[in-house]
Amino acid sequence: MTRPQVGSLAVNQQLTPDGKLKHLLSIEGLNIGILNEILDTAESFSSIANQSVKKVPLLRGKTIFNLFFEDSTRTRTTFELAGKRLSADMLSMNLKASSTNKGETLLDTLNNLQAMYSDMFIVRHQDSGAAQFIAQNVAPHISVINAGDGRHSHPTQALLDMFTIRRHKQDFTRLRVAIVGDILHSRVARSQIHALNMLNTGEVRVVAPRTLLPAAIENLGVNVYHDIDAGVKDADVIIMLRLQKERMHGALIPSENEYFQRYGLNQRRLKLADKKALVMHPGPVNRGVEISSAVADGPQSTILEQVSHGLAVRMAVMSLCLGSSGGQNE
Ligand code: CP
Repeated sequence: MTRPQVGSLAVNQQLTPDGKLKHLLSIEGLNIGILNEILDTAESFSSIANQSVKKVPLLRGKTIFNLFFEDSTRTRTTFELAGKRLSADMLSMNLKASSTNKGETLLDTLNNLQAMYSDMFIVRHQDSGAAQFIAQNVAPHISVINAGDGRHSHPTQALLDMFTIRRHKQDFTRLRVAIVGDILHSRVARSQIHALNMLNTGEVRVVAPRTLLPAAIENLGVNVYHDIDAGVKDADVIIMLRLQKERMHGALIPSENEYFQRYGLNQRRLKLADKKALVMHPGPVNRGVEISSAVADGPQSTILEQVSHGLAVRMAVMSLCLGSSGGQNE
């Protein structure tokens, strides 16, 4: 495939000329109005999970492809379930087993799927910029949602995390949020930082060894900590990230055991945070590497709640992109 270039599609091309959501490629390029509209729409969808018939007809007749070139448990299944709950015809493709392995180019694969009258592509890809590349090369009526591209962006994860924080804490301007772990390889951290900044969060901290921080991360408006005890002190929200060993080239940490000793969240460290602090993690969780089981399964953990909220947030994004949010986008 032609190597996609991040930024080759101007991020504000996510919005239509009249300011509605068309694609969701990254948090950058959105505005606070759209961000709040997504969270408010997700709020209205969250009660559907408690109904006996967990379905609404908003996307009836629409055809949506889940195109996952990289492994996923949470994102792939919640997008699939979200599409089904919106009554779309939803197809999940295992692209590791597709004709791309028989020499077909990505664009030829997309053209074939477009010939099946598709309306939306949801894309996870190992290359940063892949979702933008696809958005640039599909027919104008097709919406593209980035379900995670390389180290670049994972906007729906950040949105469901903001939804979870808002449910518990309401006012972002008073919050200290600490993001701890492998920031260097984390598309989730980048998207979270942009979303937290857009929501005018009181303080955003990143906590990591120097080897796991991108250069000039301070330019994103965060405070940098290398000592976890200082980094989580008085925090209202602690977001733990896993070590992305599959993206690491060379030894960036001495060992997993030493990493856990120096940067793992255990019960002693959690006591340094505000006593009502939330413990978040996008998953997958590596127990005993970045977080202890006692904390991951403890009363302050929102890890499984985040997964549930992913359904409502992805329903909101899919319906807004296709112009059908139950009246809110029409
Ligand atoms: N948080 C997240 O993206 O998880 P998956 O890789 O399982 O989709």
